[in-house]
Amino acid sequence: MPALFDPFTLKDVTLRNRIMVSPMCQYSAEDGRINDWHFSHLAGLARGGAGLVVAEAAAVSPEGRITPADAGIWSDEQGALWARAVGLIEAGGAVAGIQIAHAGRKANANRPWEGDDHIAEDDPRAWEILGPSAVAQGGGLWRVPREMTVEDIQRVQADFVAAAGRARDAGFRWLELHLAHGYLAQSFFSKHSNHRTDRYGGSFENRIRFAVETVRAVRAVWPANLPLTARLGLIEFAEGDDLEESLEYVRRLKAEGLDLADVSMGFTANDAAIPWGPGFLAPLAGRVRAEAGIPTATSWYISEPAQAEAIVASGQADLVALGRPLLENPHWPYRAARELGVEKAAWATLPAPYAHWLDRYRPAREREAAAAA
Ligand SMILES: Cc1cc2nc3c(=O)[nH]c(=O)nc-3n(C[C@H](O)[C@H](O)[C@H](O)COP(=O)(O)O)c2cc1C
Repeated sequence: MPALFDPFTLKDVTLRNRIMVSPMCQYSAEDGRINDWHFSHLAGLARGGAGLVVAEAAAVSPEGRITPADAGIWSDEQGALWARAVGLIEAGGAVAGIQIAHAGRKANANRPWEGDDHIAEDDPRAWEILGPSAVAQGGGLWRVPREMTVEDIQRVQADFVAAAGRARDAGFRWLELHLAHGYLAQSFFSKHSNHRTDRYGGSFENRIRFAVETVRAVRAVWPANLPLTARLGLIEFAEGDDLEESLEYVRRLKAEGLDLADVSMGFTANDAAIPWGPGFLAPLAGRVRAEAGIPTATSWYISEPAQAEAIVASGQADLVALGRPLLENPHWPYRAARELGVEKAAWATLPAPYAHWLDRYRPAREREAAAAA
């Protein structure tokens, strides 16, 4: 059995395979409320055969949205809509997860297909943006955030806790905190965006404080038997990168009860030279897994089944998180199973209305090849 189709157990949750749907914002909600688009999107991805579907970054507060059309999880009304999404995902045989987020200084932007840049302060859709320091992201995200007070920090942490409680009540079995990609927690961790001189800035200890406290507070409300994970920006590919520090950051979060690190990038440095290419981040996930002693997920430009298989088999990551390949083909897991020669494994764990017919439909020559193998 290829490693990619080995079940994976973390705490009390078992995934049918190692394929994770990476969280993907749809920028299609109204006042944070998800709708039929999200339901069909998430149901389709689950039916496609992935082991884990992590729903998009849901904002923990209105000001934490990237765009005005982001999904939210700051109200009970939104929580009830997420409960419906959980049912649809789990009916497709996948475990339902959600990512919760605060966009920090990257908040209040236009949708990617409408410019991806900041909405001007005098626009009726504008809101105040927050960051650790009054330093803009740069480029199209030119607005300068207000430097957060300690009260602001505590309020946002309480928003994360409340959001985690809503995710739990909605039935999600997997929680991912978005601590990466230049959003709020990342901009506390990164020297490029954090110029504070209080206990939330300066030293390593101070720059990780926001994330450490947030993980600790969320862990207290998120059930002990369910995985608590985080997307982490551990490298910028820019001046100032310090991988030893990043590894220590992961160890510190693990000590607070983090169960898996979804290894990603910082996206706070404007001079980054990211070596985009097939599976280019997987070696870093492997290092984190070995040196921080924590299960990992890896993402970015993994589109070929053999590549995904090699990543899991070689011990670089426990989960392969796919984004765009699953938008192109939600049934990518079947394609992978066929190409890796374990066609049946892909549907063996599917609900019967698909599993039964896929087995019957299997073309004769594939059966012969399987029998001869
Ligand atoms: C439409 C879209 C929305 C995304 N939204 C999120 C998000 O909500 N949270 C996140 O951590 N990453 C987000 N990402 C990044 C993906 O999770 C993924 O890591 C990235 O697309 C690289 O994987 P891929 O090469 O398989 O697409 C998004 C990517 C896309 C294409």
